[in-house]
Amino acid sequence: MQILGIETSCDETAVAVVDATPSGLCIVSNVVHSQVATHARWGGVVPEVASREHVARIVAIAEAALAPAGGLDRIEGIGVTQGPGLVGSLLVGLQFAKGIALARGIPWVGVNHLEGHLSAALLATERLRYPHLALVVSGGHSELYRVASFGAYVRLGGTRDDAAGEAFDKIAKVLGLGYPGGVAIERAAQGGDARVVALPRALPQKTNAEFSFSGLKTAAAKYVRAQGGRLEGDALRDFCAAVQEAIADVLSAKAVTQATLHGLPGIVLAGGVAANTRLRELVQERAQAHGLWAFIPEKKLCTDNGAMIAAAAAMRLHRGERGAFDAPPLSRWPLGRDAQGRIAALS
Ligand code: KG4
Ligand code: ZN
Repeated sequence: MQILGIETSCDETAVAVVDATPSGLCIVSNVVHSQVATHARWGGVVPEVASREHVARIVAIAEAALAPAGGLDRIEGIGVTQGPGLVGSLLVGLQFAKGIALARGIPWVGVNHLEGHLSAALLATERLRYPHLALVVSGGHSELYRVASFGAYVRLGGTRDDAAGEAFDKIAKVLGLGYPGGVAIERAAQGGDARVVALPRALPQKTNAEFSFSGLKTAAAKYVRAQGGRLEGDALRDFCAAVQEAIADVLSAKAVTQATLHGLPGIVLAGGVAANTRLRELVQERAQAHGLWAFIPEKKLCTDNGAMIAAAAAMRLHRGERGAFDAPPLSRWPLGRDAQGRIAALS
C-alpha cells in the first residue's frame, strides 16, 4: 500500500511516497525543498514568506515525489502534518492533502510532527524495538518520552526555555554564521578543541529530566562580545566545538540517565539536531557504556521530510484512523494528545 506523506509545518516543503508492506516500510521517493535560501537574509523563518513559498512549490514537489511511485493512481492513503507548526504553513499542506483525498476518495490522516520525527525510526531495515526512551531534538522541541508502543507516549521532561536547535541557531546568529545554525556550527567546529572554552551545563542533577539552554546562549554571547564580537580561525573552531559539546553532552547524558531510571532498554534519537555527528557519537557511546541500545535514523531522515510523515500515517491508517475534512491546523499539539486535545489511550 503506497502512502503519500506531506510536510509543510515550517520551512521545508516536503513530499514522499512510502510503501507499507507486511514486512515493513520502504521509501519509494522523498523530495524536500528547503526554503533556507529565502529566509537566510532575515536570519530566521518569516512565517508569511514560508506559507507563500509552500503555495508556490507544493505541486511541483508532489509531482516529483509521485513520478517514481507511478503517479497518484497508485496512492492508497495520505498523511499530512497537522501540527505543531506555523499555522499558515501547515494550512498549505493540510488543504492540499484534503483536496487529493476528496478528489480520489482515499483516506487521509493528520500527523503530529513530533510523532513524524520519531517515525523516521520505522523506515530502517531493522525493526524498531519497544519500549524505549525517545529524545526529539529540533528547532522547536527538546523532549524526552517513554514510548511503550507506536502512539503510546509519556512525556518525561523537556526544555524549560530554548530548544536545542534554537540554541544552535541563536548562537550561530551571534557568530554571524547564518541560518540554520546547527549545520553551520557543526561545520565550523571541525578540527576544533572543545576544551579550550568552558561553557555551562544547566540542571545537571542526575534525576532531572529537564533541559535549559538559555544560560548557554547567554554565556556564549558574553564570550563572543568579550572577544570583540568576532571569532576567526582556531578561536572560532574551538568555540563552535565547545558549543556543540555543551549541547550534545547534556542531551546524551540526560537521555541515558532517563532510560536507565525508567528501566527502558534503548534510546531513539530524532529531530533535526539528531543530524549532528557529535551528538550521534555521544548517544551511541554512552548508551553502549550503560548497556542500552541506541537507534538514530540516517541524517536525511532526521531533518524535516515527508517520508517520516508517511511512516507515521501508515501506522495510523492501518489502525483505521481517518482525518475529518474540517480538521484545523494546530499551532500547538503536545505529543500524546489526540488532534482534539484528548489524552490518547496508551496501548
Ligand atoms: O526537525 P527540524 O528539521 O525542523 C524542526 O522541526 O524544527 O530541525 C531543525 C533544527 C534547526 O534548529 C537546525 O539548526 C538543527 O535542527 N540542525 C542541526 C543540524 N542539522 C539541523 N543542529 C545541529 N547539527 C546539525 N547537523
Ligand atoms: Zn521537525
